[in-house]
Amino acid sequence: MERLKIGVLLSGGGTNLQAILDSMEESSLAEVVFVGSDKGEAYGLVRGRERGIPTGVFEKADFASLKERDFEILKALKAHNVDLVVLAGYLARIPKVIIEAYPNKIINIHPSLLPCFGGKGYYGDKVHQGVFERGMKVTGATVHFVSEETDGGPIILQESLTIDFDDEIPDIQEKVLKLEHRLLPKAIELIAKGRVTVIGTRVRVEHNEN
Ligand code: GRF
Repeated sequence: MERLKIGVLLSGGGTNLQAILDSMEESSLAEVVFVGSDKGEAYGLVRGRERGIPTGVFEKADFASLKERDFEILKALKAHNVDLVVLAGYLARIPKVIIEAYPNKIINIHPSLLPCFGGKGYYGDKVHQGVFERGMKVTGATVHFVSEETDGGPIILQESLTIDFDDEIPDIQEKVLKLEHRLLPKAIELIAKGRVTVIGTRVRVEHNEN
């Protein structure tokens, strides 16, 4: 069976990309074939290059319009025969043209239990800040398919964790990130094994072998 070809888009440090790469070492199921970023200085690009994976930089300033930029991203994904697009800390908006080219083939990791602390304005530290200020006792991470609604697509996997009273925002972030590093590779593996089916707004996940 051919390995699932994954294209990762990111904007930052890329620890989630690292988790994917580490989990896929010698995997017969999937491989990362392309890493793209909207930020030339994103350390995630270095992580990709270190593994000999082709990378691409798509900075807004280098294009006449966002439309043109997004078209180039789509072109790169297609050129590398990407089957599944993984957003791993990608902060730019994914346009309709890419969503339509990859129906239910784009997944995102979000550092909260969606729909809580998701949607417009909830990105990066803002998510954990919101969780902290609301005095939440639990938070978590969500892997979901990407639709046109920000953080609104069908949920694939979700896991929660407990917040202790003494946890500050960086502590919450650290706990959640650790969880993300487990959850995102797991979702990719399930998809590669054909165990994930979207049914309307819900997702059936077959966790067992049989
Ligand atoms: C993660 O918390 C991800 O959920 C969020 O941005 C962070 C990216 O971390 N959207 P990294 O670049 O993978 O280290």
